[in-house]
Amino acid sequence: MNRSFITNHNKYIYVLISMIIVDFLGLCIMKLCHIRFMDSIRLFKSRRTIHNFNKKKVSEDIILEAIEAANFAPCHRNTFPWRYYGLGDHMRSTLSELFYNIKTQNSKLSVRSKELVISKILNPSHLIFASQVISNDSFQAKEDYAACSCSIQNLMLSLASNGVGSKWSTGEIISSSQIYDLLNISQSKEEIIALLFIGYGDTPNDINRPTLDQIYSHL
Ligand SMILES: Cc1cc2nc3c(=O)[nH]c(=O)nc-3n(C[C@H](O)[C@H](O)[C@H](O)COP(=O)(O)O)c2cc1C
Repeated sequence: MNRSFITNHNKYIYVLISMIIVDFLGLCIMKLCHIRFMDSIRLFKSRRTIHNFNKKKVSEDIILEAIEAANFAPCHRNTFPWRYYGLGDHMRSTLSELFYNIKTQNSKLSVRSKELVISKILNPSHLIFASQVISNDSFQAKEDYAACSCSIQNLMLSLASNGVGSKWSTGEIISSSQIYDLLNISQSKEEIIALLFIGYGDTPNDINRPTLDQIYSHL
């Protein structure tokens, strides 16, 4: 083996080792700075509505990070029309009774169904109501609802980036006047637009989405 081959060979080994060290340091820095590897499209696809939550808890840091993400949504005229209300244990237990009463207004439920209804409220790690500050201007109100939707999507994407599932829920659970009383929200000041279920659970089956040419026209 000639001398220059050995020198070149050593050079390649040095370069390789340096690259590994730089990569490793980069990874450490990213980890320290909480920068995660997930390209955006993978993140969007990973956010799916979870219907059945288990009882595993989500850390408060992840929840606060999601609320911060929610607060970075765009809004026209800087109205910042979103408000969020996280429920503690006592509130959660009251809500489960309320939810049960709403569900049994028109039909009687078996004992098993009662357990299921109550577990919907008690199982998820966190329950957060989202409301929109009411504007008397109908155009502003429409724009504010759009802004709140962006905010909620930010919140759910932030959770998804941490591997946490969510569900945006509407219906009687957000429109009942008893819910406003429970949360101490004045119906003349804010409108509840979502109950967000947050936690861990099975990812649902894929759903058929429209193809790109069905939703996008290049004119
Ligand atoms: C404004 C809004 C309201 C929703 N309300 C409900 C609801 O009341 N119950 C429910 O099961 N899912 C609800 N969803 C979730 C949708 O059902 C879900 O997003 C849809 O099936 C698509 O599934 P994906 O979120 O996994 O992509 C709601 C979503 C939005 C955006």
